[in-house]
Amino acid sequence: MRINEDTLLEGSKVVLVPYSTEHVPRYHQWMTSAELQKLTASEPLTLEQEYDMQKSWREDEDKCTFIVLDKQRWTDPSISEEECMVGDVNLFLTDPSDLSLAELEIMIAEPSYRGRGFGKEVTCMMMHYGINKLGIKKFEVKIGSDNRISIEMFKKLRFKELSVSEVFQEVTLGLTVSKASWKELLGSTDSMQQREYGKTRDSRHGAETAP
Ligand SMILES: CC(C)(COP(=O)(O)OP(=O)(O)OC[C@H]1O[C@@H](n2cnc3c(N)ncnc32)[C@H](O)[C@@H]1OP(=O)(O)O)[C@@H](O)C(=O)NCCC(=O)NCCS
Repeated sequence: MRINEDTLLEGSKVVLVPYSTEHVPRYHQWMTSAELQKLTASEPLTLEQEYDMQKSWREDEDKCTFIVLDKQRWTDPSISEEECMVGDVNLFLTDPSDLSLAELEIMIAEPSYRGRGFGKEVTCMMMHYGINKLGIKKFEVKIGSDNRISIEMFKKLRFKELSVSEVFQEVTLGLTVSKASWKELLGSTDSMQQREYGKTRDSRHGAETAP
């Protein structure tokens, strides 16, 4: 989706930036992990296929994706954006006849960043963006039945079980946005700021090369 190609979302622990070609090598390296392939139900791709995937995430109108950066590292301009990467988050518009429905996917790929509140903040920020900018009213998430942590996190965010597939060993949770859930989401993302990605990146690079 091109709508977020110049969008940077800054939270308290994380910064979300659009998935660009410079992120592909690290992303590709993450996805060689058998654990992550299982947890995210992904197939391994070649580096070339990963570049094609990045292009399709950027161009296809049914996908919106951000790369998750560690804000603390990102505030130091001598650290490259690639070195700040900790995960990704996506929204897929799965039903062409209902553009208010989105499937959400999240991955905190770096194990040392899990269990520190990153996943919850990223999910809330992406939901805020989805509701506000894309007009999403219903979120769904498909989670492997044995992924206890992810199930716990989404239940804590008020997602309810919609179905269980014994065949795919997967549970589908969903949340329909209500006034109450929107208010709660606004509360948990009150520090979120939106900026222009290009300008922010250029000023980081400027700071990096300044005498
Ligand atoms: C699932 C995932 C996104 C959670 O993100 P995270 O940053 O580790 O989680 P957070 O620290 O934000 O915690 C959010 C909630 O998850 C649950 N949780 C986190 N770690 C947990 C643990 N070790 N045991 C049980 N529950 C846990 C808790 O409910 C927690 O809420 P709380 O802090 O209020 O108790 C992350 O672990 C991840 O990406 N794992 C690998 C890929 C994956 O499984 N993706 C999801 C595919 S659907």
